[in-house]
Amino acid sequence: MFLQMMVIITSTNTIQTAVANDRILRRLEELSTISDDNDCLSRFYFTAAHQQASDLIHSWMEEAGLDVTKDTIGNIRGIYRSDRADAKHFVIGSHYDTVHDAGKYDGPLGILLGIEMAQRLKKYGIDLPFHLNCIAFADEEGSRFSTAYLGSSVIAGNFDHEWLSRKDDRGVSFQEVIEGNGGQVNSISDDQIPQEDWLGYFEVHIEQGPVLCKQDLPVCLVSGIAAQARVNVSWKGMAGHAGTSPMDIRNDALCAAAEFTLLIEDIGKKNKEQLVATVGKLNVSPNTSNVIPGMVTHSLDIRSPNGSFLSEMIELIQTKGKEIAQKRTIEFDWKLMQFNPAIDCDDQLQELLERSIKKGNISQVLKIPSGAGHDAVMISAVAPVSMLFVRCTEGISHNPLEYVESSDIKDALIVCNHFMDELISAHTI
Ligand code: GLV
Ligand code: MN
Ligand code: MN
Repeated sequence: MFLQMMVIITSTNTIQTAVANDRILRRLEELSTISDDNDCLSRFYFTAAHQQASDLIHSWMEEAGLDVTKDTIGNIRGIYRSDRADAKHFVIGSHYDTVHDAGKYDGPLGILLGIEMAQRLKKYGIDLPFHLNCIAFADEEGSRFSTAYLGSSVIAGNFDHEWLSRKDDRGVSFQEVIEGNGGQVNSISDDQIPQEDWLGYFEVHIEQGPVLCKQDLPVCLVSGIAAQARVNVSWKGMAGHAGTSPMDIRNDALCAAAEFTLLIEDIGKKNKEQLVATVGKLNVSPNTSNVIPGMVTHSLDIRSPNGSFLSEMIELIQTKGKEIAQKRTIEFDWKLMQFNPAIDCDDQLQELLERSIKKGNISQVLKIPSGAGHDAVMISAVAPVSMLFVRCTEGISHNPLEYVESSDIKDALIVCNHFMDELISAHTI
């Protein structure tokens, strides 16, 4: 039965793929106009734009014929159920939140490809050997509460209820945000897919790096994802008059943070084969031109493919921070917000994906590690994960210049459809 259906599907492939590709491009544009900022794309967790985007994705999943719900954390979940009593869950996912001043492909491309993969199977009423879930995760970037992967952590069942007390820049807590939107924080854990019910996970994402461009390839396999930590650092000095305080008696919090930031850059450069480290967000208080900065808080994002090396570097940087603080008579505070170990993609799923890349007539099968974090990190704790990267121009990402060629999206779609066929075949007895 499955093989007969596959013949029908294959024979309508070209037109169907072109229609699906156009739909993805249209939807990418539409989503990119939904922003909390008039001047750029910015869609943080549970803002007005975030809610609007979730409604739209909800409607697209319904259009694809899926049963759709929104869970407490805000994930949009479309499911195409199998009739089999022992069916497990296979999830295709990506996220719909963005960083500030974002590009339009980071997150949404994976969601929209997932919807097309499910819609194609639904259209032909394929008898699935597993429940196929399309999930649009509510938060992956962690831009609002300094905690990445909030959406996928719920699905994986490793949501940490301590995160609920975290506050955004306006002092609103995560718990208040959920309750303000009618959610009950006690029911968050009910939304997980229990570990024993998982079959696997697949995520398509733009590469966000230059390798595919250099190799002139539209897509590639992902071998795994680097370990990552996020730290909130604060420096408490003494505010004072910029005109009257002699230079040698100041306790300038910004100068301490600046020295620390340059030191981090230096450590990163000295270990550039296995480390990247970034201070990306900085709050200066009182942030006034004629006042010595009394207080600075900033982020630290630090990553390595080697988890134990990352832990070593984190310890070293913390020690260096304390030394700077002591030398400058400034208080130093260090809060580790998140630590995610490096993960590997699953060999068996990646083998099916490799076969799909070959069937998609891609000239070479390339496999690269990901320096960027993805929802697959959270899911890997409970299920085998697989990922496909799509080329983005010059590797530019987290930037409005982020761009993906339509022909690359089409190649990705063809590979993804082959992957679903491979997966169904592999689980059809
Ligand atoms: C997500 O984009 C991340 O890697 O920070
Ligand atoms: Mn991102
Ligand atoms: Mn992303």
